[in-house]
Amino acid sequence: MIAEQKYIKKTTAERRKKFAQFFTPEPIAHLMADWLLGSTHLKTLLEPAFGLGVFSRLILQKKEEISITGFDIDPLILKEARKNFPKADNLKLHAEDYLFNDWNNKYDGIICNPPYFKFHDYENKNTLKEIKKHLKIHLSGFTNIHTLFLLKSIHQLKNNGRIAYIIPSEFLNSGYGKHIKQYLLNSKTLRHVFIIDFKENVFDDALTTSAILLLAKDEFHKHIHFSNIKSINDLKEAEKIISSYPHSKGHHTIPAHTIKANIKWRQYYQSLAGSKFKHLIPFNQVAKVVRGIATGANNYFVFNKQKAEAHHIESKNLLPCITRSKDIQTPFFTNRDYQKLANNGANVFLFDGTHSPDKHVKKYIKYGEEQNIHKRYLTSKRNPWYVIENRPPAPILAGVFNRNGLKFVRNEAMIRNLTTFHCIYPCNDLFNKLDINLLFAYLLTDVAREIFDDNRREYGNGLKKFEPNDLNNAQMLDLSQLSAGDSGKILNWFQKYRTSVLEAKEDIKFIEKIDQLLRKKYLQ
Ligand SMILES: C[S@@+](CC[C@H](N)C(=O)[O-])C[C@H]1O[C@@H](n2cnc3c(N)ncnc32)[C@H](O)[C@@H]1O
Repeated sequence: MIAEQKYIKKTTAERRKKFAQFFTPEPIAHLMADWLLGSTHLKTLLEPAFGLGVFSRLILQKKEEISITGFDIDPLILKEARKNFPKADNLKLHAEDYLFNDWNNKYDGIICNPPYFKFHDYENKNTLKEIKKHLKIHLSGFTNIHTLFLLKSIHQLKNNGRIAYIIPSEFLNSGYGKHIKQYLLNSKTLRHVFIIDFKENVFDDALTTSAILLLAKDEFHKHIHFSNIKSINDLKEAEKIISSYPHSKGHHTIPAHTIKANIKWRQYYQSLAGSKFKHLIPFNQVAKVVRGIATGANNYFVFNKQKAEAHHIESKNLLPCITRSKDIQTPFFTNRDYQKLANNGANVFLFDGTHSPDKHVKKYIKYGEEQNIHKRYLTSKRNPWYVIENRPPAPILAGVFNRNGLKFVRNEAMIRNLTTFHCIYPCNDLFNKLDINLLFAYLLTDVAREIFDDNRREYGNGLKKFEPNDLNNAQMLDLSQLSAGDSGKILNWFQKYRTSVLEAKEDIKFIEKIDQLLRKKYLQ
């Protein structure tokens, strides 16, 4: 990859980042090129995000009689790229935005490592409009640009043609990906998905969460194959799968008509933790998860003691509320914790001016209007604009963003919370059957975490996020299957754990005992 190395030396990281110029490592580029070369129909080739043309270079090495079209929005990189094709007569390079050009041409082979831009990093309104105009499909405003490249390329594929794409795998398991997956399924062109999940950093960070998609416009559309690439050795296996197409199978071969666009595709390529356990029930049979209170203007609505004094707002117009995830440090949030936060000047109150005749409250509302708080997106939809969402305190809270798995909190103080936590309300009839502390004891275990993880959504940077419905739709162990004796043991360990936490000597051994007991009873 001498061309790429030279270019990296010549240019600043800032410039490369601006255009999302990240280069495909050669072993991966080889694999993708071989997919296209496997078709005898390959005469016209399109590279939509050309860069220095690594794919075209590799393909030309094995097949000279080919006409190549390339697009790149950066004229400078194309100028460099031309130097790598001294002999190519059939090379047409366009310094243009791929998504706004060339809609009417079709190709036998399309190969691409598209720019990775998230929806907020590119001018996505006009781009989405352009895609919708040509493809007549609905897309979410959260759609990331690389998946749009893929949709357009499918549209530009000739009969018997093939596509190879390497793109971040996040769309396979995220909300906006639903429309992309539906388009892929409708097109009946998806054949192989290779999930790259290198255990060690073999190439570059950017690759660690990518997928290689291989598509073909042929008659072999009955199955979609999913395979994992975890090491360099697995790349060789992938080569074999590609060279023996259409007779090859992936690690998981799924009948295409059973694959659904609106679910996370992780379940097609990963063994799910949940399948290790018996007696699973949907979490929403036991509890309901909803997001915390959204104010639409936290700076205005959130108070601490000093601000309350400054504006003369009385406590009856201030709702106790957790406003930052940092304010809860342990799995138990008690009245003592809350009082400590309040006394230390933390922002733990929410302004509630509804129906108040108090002149200071009225003055603060007027102040809000002078600041145009009532014209914000959420406040403008409420009547009156300063009314607080009716969301009672929840006995259990769940952290929204986590690096180390889910964080649950037993809200013993029964304080309201903003959106940094989700509210978990155990179902009413739960109290007839299950102790809420038994449920919470379960939530603290690794077993619970593993099973919930089957339903998480991923963000490229390793951050894991659970939306309320990810938890509602997840599964859990059916705790009603436990004998009275086992439930008693769990509750006993749980109380000991609680005491250890409250005394600031957290002893995780008690949770481990609960975890072990559950594994013994529920493992298949
Ligand atoms: C991830 S790099 C891939 C480069 C090369 N194909 C490779 O695999 O090594 C993406 C390339 O797309 C180009 N690019 C960014 N936005 C584009 C657009 N809207 N249309 C065409 N090319 C674009 C960038 O300048 C960059 O060279």
